[in-house]
Parts: sequence; structure tokens; C-alpha cells
Amino acid sequence: MTVGSLLAADLVIAVLAAAGWLGGGAASAARRRPLALGLAAFALLATLARAVTITALARAGWWFAAEKVLVAAPLSLAAVAVAGPRLLRAPGDIRSVAVPLLFAGYAVSGGLLVTVLHGYPASPGLGLLAVAGVLAATAVSWRALGRRPSPTVSRVALAAAVAALVTGTGLAATPDAAPAVPHDHEYRDARTVGEPTRRFTLTAGTATVSVSGRDVGAWAFNGQVPGPELTATVGDVLEVTLRNRDIGRGVTLHWHGYDVPNSQDGVPGVTQAAVLPGQEFVYRFRADQVGTYWYHTHAVSDVGVRMGLYGVLVVRPAPPTGVDVTVPAHTLANLPLPAPRAEPVQAGTPVRLRLINTDSTTHRYALAGTPFQVAAIDGSDLRGPTPLVDTAVLIPAGGRYDLVFTAPATPVALFVDGRTVWSTGGVSAATGGWPVLDPLGYGVGSPVPWSRYDKEFTLVLDRGLDLHGLRPRYAHTVNGAADPDIPPQVVRLGDVVKFTIVNRSSVVHPWHLHGHHVLVLSRNKEPATGSPLWLDSFDVRPGDVWEVGFRADNPGVWANHCHNLAHADAGMTLHLMYS
Ligand code: C2O
Ligand code: CU
Repeated sequence: MTVGSLLAADLVIAVLAAAGWLGGGAASAARRRPLALGLAAFALLATLARAVTITALARAGWWFAAEKVLVAAPLSLAAVAVAGPRLLRAPGDIRSVAVPLLFAGYAVSGGLLVTVLHGYPASPGLGLLAVAGVLAATAVSWRALGRRPSPTVSRVALAAAVAALVTGTGLAATPDAAPAVPHDHEYRDARTVGEPTRRFTLTAGTATVSVSGRDVGAWAFNGQVPGPELTATVGDVLEVTLRNRDIGRGVTLHWHGYDVPNSQDGVPGVTQAAVLPGQEFVYRFRADQVGTYWYHTHAVSDVGVRMGLYGVLVVRPAPPTGVDVTVPAHTLANLPLPAPRAEPVQAGTPVRLRLINTDSTTHRYALAGTPFQVAAIDGSDLRGPTPLVDTAVLIPAGGRYDLVFTAPATPVALFVDGRTVWSTGGVSAATGGWPVLDPLGYGVGSPVPWSRYDKEFTLVLDRGLDLHGLRPRYAHTVNGAADPDIPPQVVRLGDVVKFTIVNRSSVVHPWHLHGHHVLVLSRNKEPATGSPLWLDSFDVRPGDVWEVGFRADNPGVWANHCHNLAHADAGMTLHLMYS
């Protein structure tokens, strides 16, 4: 069983246990004896079963189980201790066990709420708050059933509530608030100067574009979605002038995966101000990294990118020989892009397909009709890629894969999620059942270049209640906090840094660090054995634990966030900054 399914199973069992106790309590209050006994017996079993799931989760990693062990398990034990013996005594008046059964229901629900509303890390304050809530609910039910609650219950509830307030629950107060990210620092360096050799102008504006025969409203660069393809040869100096015609919420250009100097990174409020209608901003950087990249607005990025403010950036080592095609996959107004493209290719021609996922969720790509190699991922060439046949690849949000092959005499077709996007002729292939490539074992390995780390950070990804902003929200959180309250990660120039990224939520988080590529060290305790993978976007699936490392060699303040941009917007963004 994967950790992701264990997390799901534990949640389901907890819900069933809570429902069983509460239902049993209600049934006994209504003097429905068989129903009450049946539900209570079921709830008892479910509560005990959680011992198995919680233990398994704790063994997979303390992050997955902390609050369950520290809060839910003691509450569940109390539930069993209070309700169990009273049930076994087979009460003559079933109504006499209503309060104990309801108490058990509140106790199990309390543990469940701590998991769902806060998760990791568990805090004593939160545990106390749960105890207070459970006892208060019990006292209220007791009274509602026409009896006088034991005064001890109310007293302990009050004491726990006061203690929780004193200790702090982490829900509404910020114990160590994140230092503000500086707004107007400049890290100009030699990489931003030099006479431009490639000049582009991108004008952002609202537009109507045609997608598979339908006119849809979009936000576009130069009236097209995707925006113009920016290409350069290594050694060029790129100069890109961004203008905003009428995007009221502002635009910027972020060079996704391209490790530009910080001043050119295009993050509003961090490296520049958003470019408002009528304004412009000039980006300049050296084309010193060969590979497949993309650009997109980083102002209200969830909406902006989805609406179409993105395009391709390709830096080639030399002018292309053979066929060199970019395939950015996107969903615009629920319609898939790009439109299918058929292109005859002479047998024997080298072909490179640059696959780019510009959506917020994973896409599945399949190349049918030829053996191929994955030559590069996220702009970095792989070491010793071997030929693959009838194998699919999963590309995370923001990620890029370069597939290469020599054109055969027979047709070849590329599918995205089962839809043909590029082909050299008709191919009928059922690619849905193909195995998926695991890049961590692909190509030829080489030793990790460091043996120790100067800084180590753990990022536990989850959901939780965030009461800090103006409106309470169910945020996507890192270590129990949401943007802008997540403390920044502070490093020094030259540090070797390790991130451990843990996903204890039920959704995929495509992780993306700006300004650096990270080397994958391990996933779920299994070391990466294939070609070194220097990634800027990788899917951390539910229950996954990834370890990645990098050298802090690009000073500045860098966004570090989930590239499901709706998640990033809902709190899952923090910053890496150099001291
Ligand atoms: Cu492609 Cu911060 O984003
Ligand atoms: Cu996410």
C-alpha cells in the first residue's frame, strides 16, 4: 500500500468511526437499542483499526502521523475507555450510554478535525483546543439530554481552552512571523549586460483567439496563444521588452526554468513591480543555458497563465539541423492546445520534440511509431539515455521533456492524454496502456557531487485553515503555514542546500524553485540511480517524500512554490533568500 493510499484509508476510517459513535449516541438517545449497539460496535472496531493505519503512517515518516499520534490517538483511547466498558455492561436503559457514545464521537471527530484543519506540525495548543472542544460538546449534549453534566467536565473544558489560548494554537497567531521579503533590492550582474543580439517585444492584452474553430476570450502576448516563440543561440544576449496594453491586474515575465539573475526573474512584489496598463519593462539576460524553457506572467499567475500569457523559450547550441519542434500543451477555456499538426518528415532525419507542460496539472505524453530517447528534462541533457519503445512519459506542470529520434520511413505520432498533437502521418495506436517512464532510473548514474549539506530544509505540504489574512481560507500550506506567513529559507552564497519535500495532502504538488535547478537525490527513500536529474519542476505525489539538493549560487530572493498555480495562489508559496 502506498503512503498516499494509507493516508486516504486512515481518513476514511476516522470518518466512519466518528460517524459510528455519533450515530450510536443519537440512536441510544432515541432508545433505538439494536441500532445503537450495532453502530457503537462498528465504531469501536473502526477506532481500533486506526491503530494499524496510524502506526504504518508513523513508520513511513513522522510528518505523516505526528498529529494523529499526539492528538487523535489519545482522544481515540479516551473514546474507547469511556464508551467501551459501558457498552460491555449491556445497559438495561440504552439511554444511559448516550452521553458516553456522544463523547466518543466528539473525541474521534476532534482528532479528525485537527488533521483536516491543521495537520503538521502538531502543537500542544491545538491538542488542548481539541480537548476543550470535545468536553464542551459533551457537556452541551449532556444538558440537552436533560441531565446535569458533571461539573468536572465543564471545568476541565474551560481549563483546556484557557491553556490552549495561552500556549497558542498556531491557527490565528503567528509565533515567528515571516520577515518581509524585500521589494526593491537589485542584484545586477554581468549576465544582464552586453549588447543585445536578439530583441523581442511582447505586448500583453486581452484578445479573442480561435481554438479548434471556436472563438474564446484570452489574455495574449502579441494577440496569440501561446505567445511568440523566443529562440536564441547560446552566446546571444536576449532583450525582451514587455508592454501591457490592457491587463488591469498587471503582467510580468518569468523565465520558467531559466536561471536568470534575480533582477530579471519577473516576480511582482519580489524582484519588480507588476507592469500595469501603459507601462513597460525591459528584461535582459545572456543565453548561456541551452535547452527548452518557457516564459509566463507571474502577476496573478493562476489566472494570467491559464488565460494565455505564456510562450516558449528555446536556446539552441547552434542553429537547428533536422526537425526541431516545440509542443507546449495547454488548456484554454477547457479546450486543449496545440491544434494537431501533421508534418511530413524524410526518413533518416533527426527529430527533436520539445514537450512543455504549461498547465497546472500533469500531462501524459506518448510517442508512437518509433523508438526514441529522452535527451533532456527541464533543459538539462541526460547522461546515457537509452532507447525507449511504447513507453509514456508524465510531465509535471511547468516541466519539459525533449524526445529525440531518427525519423523512420513509417509514420510517427505524438499523443498528449490520448490526443494526437503532432504526427508525420496517420498512426493508430492505443497508448493508454503503455508503461510510464520513471526518470529516476533512466540513463547512466553518476555520484552526487556533495557529501554534506550546509543547510537542510523540510517542506511538509498539506492543507489547513488559515486565519491570518482578511478572510479565513482553507489554504494549501507548507509546514502548517500559508503565504505570506511561511518563514523564508535563508542561505548563504556557496551553501550546499538540501530540501526534503513531503506531501501529506491528497493532491499532487508540482514543486518549482526559481533561479536554481535541483538535483534529485531520492524519492520515498529510494536513491535516484539514473542519469543525474537537474530539475526545476517535479511532481510530489500524495505520500511522496523527495530529497533534492543544490548549490546556492544565484543570489537574490527567489520564489519557491507549487506550480499548480491555484495552489500557489492559495498559500503554497515561500521564498529562498540569500543572507
Ligand atoms: Cu513557472 Cu514561479 O513559476
Ligand atoms: Cu500544489
